[in-house]
Amino acid sequence: MKAKIVTLPGDGIGPDVVAEGVRVLRVVAEKSNHHFEFEEHLIGGCAIDATGNPLSDETLAACRASDAVLLGAVGGPKWDVGDVRPEQGLLKLRKGLGLFANLRPVKPHPALVHASPLRPEKLAGVDVMVVRELTGGLYFGKPQGRTNENGHARAVDTMEYSDTEISRIVDLACRLAMARQKRVTSVDKANVLASSKLWREVATQTAHAHPQIKLDHVLVDTCAMRLVSAPSSFDVIVTENMFGDILTDEAAVLVGSMGLLPSASLGTGTLGVYEPIHGSAPDIAGKGIANPIGTILSTAMLLRHSLNLPREADAVEQAVDRVLTDGCRTADIAQKGERVLSTREMSDQIIAQIVR
Ligand code: IPM
Ligand code: MG
Repeated sequence: MKAKIVTLPGDGIGPDVVAEGVRVLRVVAEKSNHHFEFEEHLIGGCAIDATGNPLSDETLAACRASDAVLLGAVGGPKWDVGDVRPEQGLLKLRKGLGLFANLRPVKPHPALVHASPLRPEKLAGVDVMVVRELTGGLYFGKPQGRTNENGHARAVDTMEYSDTEISRIVDLACRLAMARQKRVTSVDKANVLASSKLWREVATQTAHAHPQIKLDHVLVDTCAMRLVSAPSSFDVIVTENMFGDILTDEAAVLVGSMGLLPSASLGTGTLGVYEPIHGSAPDIAGKGIANPIGTILSTAMLLRHSLNLPREADAVEQAVDRVLTDGCRTADIAQKGERVLSTREMSDQIIAQIVR
């Protein structure tokens, strides 16, 4: 097959890890006789520096014309001041491409249980797919902004959801759960928020179309607690944008390092944006020590969801699984005395498994 992939390395360690993701995709293409074409564009702080805009309309158009987008990370202390922020580029990309669903799978690797702050027995059987709504809620609700009244500053954000926004994400969660344990936990704050009351109502209605799915509702504070006290009790979690942002960072801790986790942002078509869930980590940028696994597993999600190449996706995931079992470690997951691999060396090991 032929595919056009836009890369948006972004800031900090973004370029370090996206370079490895591209190497993996090239190897996959060569091995299976596919033709992948790559086109690199700017997003985030580097785009602000070059053009004053964290995501230009040209870049957005290039993404729209592609089959899939591989993204690194955006942001850094350099751009923390001022009104134009790198993160605005990411939000514009999600909204502009209609990517309303963010999939964040969390499954601890048995060889890395020591790296998790949870006791090994708590981690047994943990395999959670968090489905985060990505283009609504507090991030995009209007009004949003700051005013000044009688010398006092006020700021407002709006948590807003329509029934269609809720039903499409819950429907997706149910469809994903059908290929898993058929359990969906919808997370809200229906004891307080109007948007959550609607969320719960629509989630219940939507699940009726999936009679095999067992749906339950959990309040977001309880969910935060259960994610560390009984993480294996979850299968698919579906929740609104801001709750999902917070809960996925918490869930990431379970696996031992943020550097390990991939994500996929999807809409109604096959186009998606794939990115590791870690940030730009400016303190280690360019040092060649970042963990490339989050990005490499994101390329597996890209192969599966945007290019419909499940066998190739499995091969990448199995390669990662294998090198971790074999003891390959980057600095973030190494124990005292273990040999630490660089970003490049870790990818070399994974690639060696893929071409085997
Ligand atoms: C994430 C990040 C982003 C978000 C930031 C960088 C805007 O935290 O993808 O989880 O809040 O969505
Ligand atoms: Mg986040």
